[in-house]
Amino acid sequence: MIGKGRQTRDGIQINEPGAFAAMHAAGKLAARILDEVAELVFPGQTTGAIDDAIEAKVNDAHAVSATIGYRGYKHASCISVNHVVCHGIPGDKKLKDGDILNIDVTVIVDGWFGDSSRMYVAGKLNRRAERLIQITHDSLMKGIEAVKPGNTFGDIGYAIQTFVESHRMSVVRDFCGHGLGRVFHSPPNVLHYGRAGSGAVLEEGMFFTIEPMVNLGRPETKVLSDDWTAVTRDKSLSAQFEHSVGVTSNGVEIFTLSPTNRFHPTNF
Ligand code: MF3
Ligand code: CO
Ligand code: CO
Repeated sequence: MIGKGRQTRDGIQINEPGAFAAMHAAGKLAARILDEVAELVFPGQTTGAIDDAIEAKVNDAHAVSATIGYRGYKHASCISVNHVVCHGIPGDKKLKDGDILNIDVTVIVDGWFGDSSRMYVAGKLNRRAERLIQITHDSLMKGIEAVKPGNTFGDIGYAIQTFVESHRMSVVRDFCGHGLGRVFHSPPNVLHYGRAGSGAVLEEGMFFTIEPMVNLGRPETKVLSDDWTAVTRDKSLSAQFEHSVGVTSNGVEIFTLSPTNRFHPTNF
């Protein structure tokens, strides 16, 4: 039931003040799990083993994985290595020294969704990858800084795109952020590129993700024959960070903040 609150003309849910606490609880669990998996990322480890640990942590918390059973997806996380842009399927391939990976976890706590992803490195981080990860992280934060009532969704995309392109990297167009709350993917599509002042106006009580994917090369992607794994067409390295956020009366609250300040991989 989405009974409480109301929806805008664009179908964007406006949540009541009481819903913020529920989103913080869901977001915090996703963030805690992402904190805890850091120690499971090392050369020789399989992405399947990391996913198994994530599924166990969701169960231990008496929460529900939002991705298991979602459109036929079978895992508690997406793990996207190197040139995989998003929706990488965990499996028995071993991580190699210097691999960078995004781990994306979505949980349901008391019916509310918490969705977050971050970058990790197996072994030693090389300079090119470090730069990509830093710019991608900072682009998410620039996007979040643009979140306040009266600004538009286009302002968020504009902030991300101009920052990324000023560093001669590219923003993926084929995937976007999304509204969430008591539904996984709801309006609007949160684009990570765009024109300032375009799109729907942000209102207090809107909940959504911002999750820019940034490539060292060109922005084009393709989906592999498994129907999930999205890769860069030019095989260039790709990174992503994702937070779930809510619009407050004068700004933004981040629901998926790291309890131990490990959101950025150089903080490990
Ligand atoms: N968590 C992803 C997102 O940020 C969605 C994953 S759907 C899955 O929206 F089925 F691939 F897991
Ligand atoms: Co998301
Ligand atoms: Co996600």
